[in-house]
Amino acid sequence: MKRLSLILICALVGLGAMAQNEYVPTEENRKSRQEFSDMKFGIFIHWGIYSMYGNGEWFMNIAGVNAKEYAKAADAFYPHRFNAEEWVSAIKGSGAKYITITSRHHDGFSMWGTKQSDYNIVDATPFHRDVLKELSAACQEQGIRLHFYYSHLDWTREDYPWGRTGHHTGRDSTKADWPHYYQFMNNQLTELLTNYGPIGAIWFDGFWDHDEDSVPFDWQLDEQYAMIHRLQPACLVGNNHHENVLPGEDIQIFERDIPGRNTAGYSGQDISLLPLETCQTMNSMWGYKVTDPYYKSVEELIRYLVETAGKGANLLLNIGPQPNGELPAAALERLKGMGEWLGTYGEAIYGTTAGDLQDQPWGTSTRKGSTLFLHIFNPMQDIALPLNCKVQKAQLWDGTPLKVKKSKDGIWHLQLPEGATADPVMVIRLTTK
Ligand code: GLC
Repeated sequence: MKRLSLILICALVGLGAMAQNEYVPTEENRKSRQEFSDMKFGIFIHWGIYSMYGNGEWFMNIAGVNAKEYAKAADAFYPHRFNAEEWVSAIKGSGAKYITITSRHHDGFSMWGTKQSDYNIVDATPFHRDVLKELSAACQEQGIRLHFYYSHLDWTREDYPWGRTGHHTGRDSTKADWPHYYQFMNNQLTELLTNYGPIGAIWFDGFWDHDEDSVPFDWQLDEQYAMIHRLQPACLVGNNHHENVLPGEDIQIFERDIPGRNTAGYSGQDISLLPLETCQTMNSMWGYKVTDPYYKSVEELIRYLVETAGKGANLLLNIGPQPNGELPAAALERLKGMGEWLGTYGEAIYGTTAGDLQDQPWGTSTRKGSTLFLHIFNPMQDIALPLNCKVQKAQLWDGTPLKVKKSKDGIWHLQLPEGATADPVMVIRLTTK
């Protein structure tokens, strides 16, 4: 009996300890997750002094540039055409509902007036302006959410323990000091979550830098995530670690792939029940690239957004601003095109969940309550719909009724008008029961 009570007490203490460590999102956080999912479309901004080199944000590592040489770009960084209001209104015009901007990328340069290091846009450039502060004000004024990308890895600081990248930047690997670096990051995150208004999410990147360590690297994420949630309970935590979601995370990120696909090689992880986000480039790089013939067309981007929404995920579409502070003309043109399409068909995207049918020969679908939106990429006269629900009505976007009936094999068949075209998507409204 005594033994049994002892076992019971141990079990209860164990459970208690587990419950203490277990992350339970607050009410504000849950609300914020739902709002995040409903937004469906955001714009990613990769901007830093790397834009001066015109070769993407990995330039320092790829070209093996010494960090001190690289830092000279800061002394010439003067993005005099930067106008936060213009950025935000162009982005808003695309139909995007949030912006995720790089606050500090792997090169270690901070894009705000941080007190934790002089290597920042206010202290180290002749520009002396806190662009994140300006962006935060413009976002609040125009009703766009602001998220911060934050790199866990740093190719410039010597206290950051060496991972598998950034070995040729002239750092002394013996000077690594994780507790110091960890404190530095937490101080920076505290600034970002204290002085820049409500932040929709912190978007971490760089975890994979230590994925080849012989002893698993302890990033002390629990404590860092808890600090973020303490400072702003509605702030969502996401980490582009390419692994299954970890405790304390509120969204799941997929790099360059729609959840369930793995064409880029970063997305073998399980799909969680958290809100999902796919980040993707408009061209071939995240940071500004001076020659880049690989811009996706407006049509391709719209279809990509639709396919992502079909999986219930958000699309975070990237732009790499120029060193002068302007968004490239090619990006502005795409923002406009997407905005025009969403201006008409937004109802079939925002606030929807994954559709009942995806990856179909004709296209995909999204759902909102009893309405199932079919997004047709390849119009065929007879669209087969292997649905588990009853279809009461089918209509073209302008309300024109379409013929739909269930065949003997139990599959619904929709008749499209002859000569129907999809440029780039034909959206059909099905009323289901
Ligand atoms: C990768 C890259 C990084 C980029 C990120 C965006 O992790 O290292 O440069 O910021 O993807 O998804």
